[in-house]
Amino acid sequence: MVKHLFLSIALSVGFQLQANIPYVDNLMSKMTLEEKLGQLNLMPAGGIVTGGVIESKTAEDIKSGRLGGIFNIKGRAEIEALQKLAVEKSRLGIPLLVGMDIIHGYETVFPIPLALSCTWDLQGIEESARIAAEEASCVGIGWTFSPMVDICVDARWGRIAEGGGEDPYLGSLIGAAMVRGYQGDLSKPTNIMACVKHFALYGAVEGGRDYNTVDMSRIRMFNQYFPPYEAAVKAGAGSVMSSFNLVDGQHATANKWLQTDLLRNKWKFDGFVVTDYASINEMQVHGFGTVADNSYKALKAGTDMDMCSQGFINHLKSGLENGQVSMADIDQACHRVLEAKYKLGLFDNPYKFFDAKREKKVMYSDANRKVARDLAAESFVLLKNDNNLLPLKKQGTIALIGPLSQTRDNLTGTWSVAQATDKYQTLEEGFRKALKGRATLLCAQGCNITRDEDTQLGAELGKHITRVDAKKAKAEALKIAQQADVVVCAMGECADFSGESSSRVDLNLPDEQMELLQAIAETGKPVVLLNFAGRPTVLDWESQHVNAIMNVWFGGSETPDAVCDVLFGDKCPSGRLTVSMPRATGQQPLYYNHLNTGRPVPYSAPRYQKFASNYIEVRNGALYPFGYGLTYTQFDYSNMRTTVKDDSVTVAVKVTNTGKRDAYEVVQLYIHDVYASIARPVCELKGFQRVFLKAGESKDVTLKLGRDDLSYYDGEGNRVFEPGEFDIMVGKNSRENLVERVMVR
Ligand code: BGC
Repeated sequence: MVKHLFLSIALSVGFQLQANIPYVDNLMSKMTLEEKLGQLNLMPAGGIVTGGVIESKTAEDIKSGRLGGIFNIKGRAEIEALQKLAVEKSRLGIPLLVGMDIIHGYETVFPIPLALSCTWDLQGIEESARIAAEEASCVGIGWTFSPMVDICVDARWGRIAEGGGEDPYLGSLIGAAMVRGYQGDLSKPTNIMACVKHFALYGAVEGGRDYNTVDMSRIRMFNQYFPPYEAAVKAGAGSVMSSFNLVDGQHATANKWLQTDLLRNKWKFDGFVVTDYASINEMQVHGFGTVADNSYKALKAGTDMDMCSQGFINHLKSGLENGQVSMADIDQACHRVLEAKYKLGLFDNPYKFFDAKREKKVMYSDANRKVARDLAAESFVLLKNDNNLLPLKKQGTIALIGPLSQTRDNLTGTWSVAQATDKYQTLEEGFRKALKGRATLLCAQGCNITRDEDTQLGAELGKHITRVDAKKAKAEALKIAQQADVVVCAMGECADFSGESSSRVDLNLPDEQMELLQAIAETGKPVVLLNFAGRPTVLDWESQHVNAIMNVWFGGSETPDAVCDVLFGDKCPSGRLTVSMPRATGQQPLYYNHLNTGRPVPYSAPRYQKFASNYIEVRNGALYPFGYGLTYTQFDYSNMRTTVKDDSVTVAVKVTNTGKRDAYEVVQLYIHDVYASIARPVCELKGFQRVFLKAGESKDVTLKLGRDDLSYYDGEGNRVFEPGEFDIMVGKNSRENLVERVMVR
């Protein structure tokens, strides 16, 4: 009967046929309509909410079969009690799907995703997801709302922190690596289901203001924004979350073109689609009819699970009665949700994710912390290092100043909902441990994050930075700066300056911090700035007046140790930017892989040019471009060779470590399609290799470009290869590279 239904759906609307799972078919044959709708209902069960709190009677709803899943509740015992209700007290005993926003680790917190992307270390990134799954899966969680693969080219948007940067090629590799890391073999108790989000284009909200509208050409969607979603889906992600924004004038939650034509029919996605938090309710505010209407539209478009709106559970029954939805639509969604539970092995063992013994062994274990510490160190990007000020010697007197120097919980950044703050160190504690008394350490907070108490944020989510009397704190900081041989400033954003709903219009270091930094620079002492940030920030003044700058983002639970590893030279920096660091906020959106204009002005132009494409106040392009990052040695590129064979190009280059330290270099390969039927970006990343070179060592690095790398998408999403000339660029970043023009036929 059920199979027959699916066959007719497949024939009528061209859906992919569901996997034939007799267990699920059999179960569905016993379910009432209400129980089926219950499976489509997802509600928060803990205290972590990101929208309006919606009344829910969790326990009663579970027992009556009105809830298919719960999310964002922390605690093995609490979750197990709810699972017990579902399994033992509901009529059919269907287990709950338990989700959580495990975005960059559970108790072992890894760097924020933007920082992780700056490692260019795909294996490491995959490992971070595997460890997050390993920890979450013993305390009841089987599903994570990650990876977030939204491309973002506007640093005003706070959620740029949660993604893999501005490049679709790198973003695709990262998305796929994270899916592999979380899911591995899904039947194992140590793996959890991934959820690719936010489908689609959420990173392109106008003005970088969160939840804002999006309007974009199909050419841009396919070439710049869709690739990471597609890659993560093709890596086997079990679920996809739709986004809050419009796509082509339709809400993504009820957009059939997105969810069915593209996601299922073109990309062959065979998992389930969940809405974002209360999206069906919010559609009404956007201007799309009643919650009931929107529930019908969302289901019809391809949404399977309703997060927080309770639109499906409350309205689909009437939709069925008035013919707006069919039983086949409901069955299809229910089947997909049950199939996910089946794939996770929940029907075999609904308690597979409750393992106190394993929790003891793996939670925040030394092994996991070591991976987090290594990845944090890899994620730091050294932007400036005048006269090799870094690495610092562990001697003399060091002053550590700034609002990020004494906080325990801010270093994990946004979306670290399961963090175990008490177990982490402050930067000051990390410094003391690393220095072991070999240098004198003087510390002061020095200032507030911002002068304005209201914009200091933090209080809401509990990530506090103590408020200090600005005048007194500054005087104290300047006093210790005067006594020191070197001053390390831990400044920038606090955790809640980025992440959801944390959009900004000014990307400079906030007032009080800037004033303090300027005063410290005036002392004439050498200054190192550790820039904490969940986004690219403006470091224009700093780049001219501070001796060394290391962008440390939010490095996770092991930040203090990782900072010391790099600052004191036990490790060499190896992070490379995956976002463009602007000269001024007004340059947003800013990205390296932009199209050309008819009146371009080179990045190197010394001044403003009238009637050309540039700004009056600042030169074009990033202050620190995509791919950029220094280390404690230098790399030289020479002897570039390109070989064209049919429609592929082999690129070889000799890379030499000409300095005195062993270190990693990220060899980057870019192309530019010189003439095409649609305008192509001035530069596009198409390959890279992370190579380790000993001091004085040379390596020949070979990278290959296939036909697909030289192709682009047309407006229908088809790959187009056009023979002709291509510039091939290989080097240390998107700006500094060797170039050869080749003809590919
Ligand atoms: C966010 C999602 C998140 C969800 C559940 C929403 O507000 O946009 O990324 O997964 O909340 O917490």
